[in-house]
Amino acid sequence: MAHPVTRMRRLRRNETIRGMVRENRLAREDLILPLFVVEGSGVRESIGSMPGVDRFSVDQVVVEAKRVADLGLPGVILFGIPDEKDARGSGADAEGGIIQRATRAIADAVPDLAVMTDVCLCEYTDHGHCGLLNGEEVENDSSVERLAATAVSHARAGASIVAPSDMMDGRVAAIRSALDAEGFEDVAILSYAAKYASAFYGPFRDAAESTPAFGDRRAYQMDPPNRREAMREMKLDLEEGADMLMVKPAMAYLDILSDARREFDVPLAAYHVSGEYSMIKAAGERGWLDADAAMFESLISMKRAGADLILTYAAAEVAERL
Ligand code: PBG
Repeated sequence: MAHPVTRMRRLRRNETIRGMVRENRLAREDLILPLFVVEGSGVRESIGSMPGVDRFSVDQVVVEAKRVADLGLPGVILFGIPDEKDARGSGADAEGGIIQRATRAIADAVPDLAVMTDVCLCEYTDHGHCGLLNGEEVENDSSVERLAATAVSHARAGASIVAPSDMMDGRVAAIRSALDAEGFEDVAILSYAAKYASAFYGPFRDAAESTPAFGDRRAYQMDPPNRREAMREMKLDLEEGADMLMVKPAMAYLDILSDARREFDVPLAAYHVSGEYSMIKAAGERGWLDADAAMFESLISMKRAGADLILTYAAAEVAERL
């Protein structure tokens, strides 16, 4: 029955009533904080393109991980920035590599925190691509072998969840079988299943020094206009053994999240990427909007679209306010 019998405003009158009928909530348990790890000790340096985000040396990242656990976040995802890079990304699976040391240190010091690792070659290759090159082409199958070795090295260091973000074909299956062969059957795979070739990664590439030396990532990451293709990507990753699926970026791809929620009954993650984070911060610094409110509204949109987990650089500050 329409107005005047039905009055939608009755349930919006005050915060108690609004809270009673609220459909979605953001909880600390939903939030995963990405952390950048660099060589050295005592290092905690800010990142110009990402206000409020720092790069940490291993000793300092442990301090940050403790703080994050105390705030009630369930996990962190680590990105390594090595001093040395080469064509094959040797640092990615090096036993004493930056991520391996950071993972070990956090897993030992903060055992209740889930240590997740980004599995990719782009931070470790001198050309900045996510796989191995053959001429100017990123070769799929040889890259997949390197990625599987990288995932195993992360598991050996104590990672409980590995997250391949390279977008090579068949990498989830290769990682699953390599993990199993080494006795890491219990290490889970969070697949960056629908990862788009996005301009919103700009600030991250500054932070991680992973901008491709030539070309771009459009030959492996998804084409932004495509929607149905994302469901094929996700289905394949599930068949290959992914435990959880991720959509990335998040805000510009809420339709994909919503489709995935309807299509797959598995845990779904949204990656609120660097550009999505930094543009809110930048507008806030200029006084053009209320950054805290805009951040919250962005994150709740991901929950509304169907995300279970959100990877965001705002995880700690938002958890403090919840
Ligand atoms: C590595 C990787 C990237 C991001 C996460 N993992 C960069 C890229 O694909 O260029 C982006 C994260 C962000 O922008 O916050 N492949």
